[in-house]
Amino acid sequence: MSDLMTHLNETVSFIRSKVKTDATVGIVLGSGLGNLTDDIDIEHAIPYGDIPHFPVSTVKGHSGKLLFGKLGGRSVIVMGGRFHFYEGYTPQQVVYPIRVMKQLGIETLLLSNAAGGVNPVFQVGDLMIINDHISFFTSNPLIGKNEEEMGTRFPDMSEPYNKVLIAKAHSIAKAHKIKLYEGIYTAVTGPTFETRAEYKLIKLAGSDVVGMSTVQETIAAVHCGMKVFGISVITDIGIREDENTITHEEVLQAAKDAEPKLSLLFRELVKSV
Ligand code: HPA
Repeated sequence: MSDLMTHLNETVSFIRSKVKTDATVGIVLGSGLGNLTDDIDIEHAIPYGDIPHFPVSTVKGHSGKLLFGKLGGRSVIVMGGRFHFYEGYTPQQVVYPIRVMKQLGIETLLLSNAAGGVNPVFQVGDLMIINDHISFFTSNPLIGKNEEEMGTRFPDMSEPYNKVLIAKAHSIAKAHKIKLYEGIYTAVTGPTFETRAEYKLIKLAGSDVVGMSTVQETIAAVHCGMKVFGISVITDIGIREDENTITHEEVLQAAKDAEPKLSLLFRELVKSV
């Protein structure tokens, strides 16, 4: 057995020895979006540091626990904080928890993130469903030996984000009068925010938002056959001509302010899966 499959088996055995879960929905909470966990009836929480082969999160705004519980009456597994390439993890480490979730029985993955808007229509606090992505500016997590057991060498990426989940999210948003956009997410490595020229290039490439996460996770999830739903909270606007400095604090605050809308959407989406 390969190192990866051996590690996954060890991680999953450890988790199963602590928790019995029948969850089929997994959730990853992005920067400043950790309060969604207030809506979850948490039955078990395992600190990342206790889980064999798990990386450990270092970023402010990430709680660093794998949570097991109920959201909207349905079993879920939630990553309270994720791993980023810019923290120094390899792309394979970044996606390791996604693969663990798959081995634990997760079929549908809900990903959230804070992102910079490059679509001039967007305002800080808006939500955007990710309907496609551009991953060229980051490293692909599938580079290296392919695990045939997990998925194919050359996975199709014509529809990484599940259309049925997107349609459900739109109807939930409509019913609850939540403004919801749809668009393309471009992934960058970070940790610098983009220069003015880079924001312009990303806009020119046809993208609506830019961020430092999510896409590697989506690729790994699609590779192993999961349905993916992704959503961005617009925390800053990259293309303003006037003064345009962006700080991590501002991003966290904007994400926190928008969080109730996202929590409602995720709760209803989980119920509908
Ligand atoms: N750029 C990249 N990542 C981000 C941004 C941004 O403007 N905002 C939040 N995450």
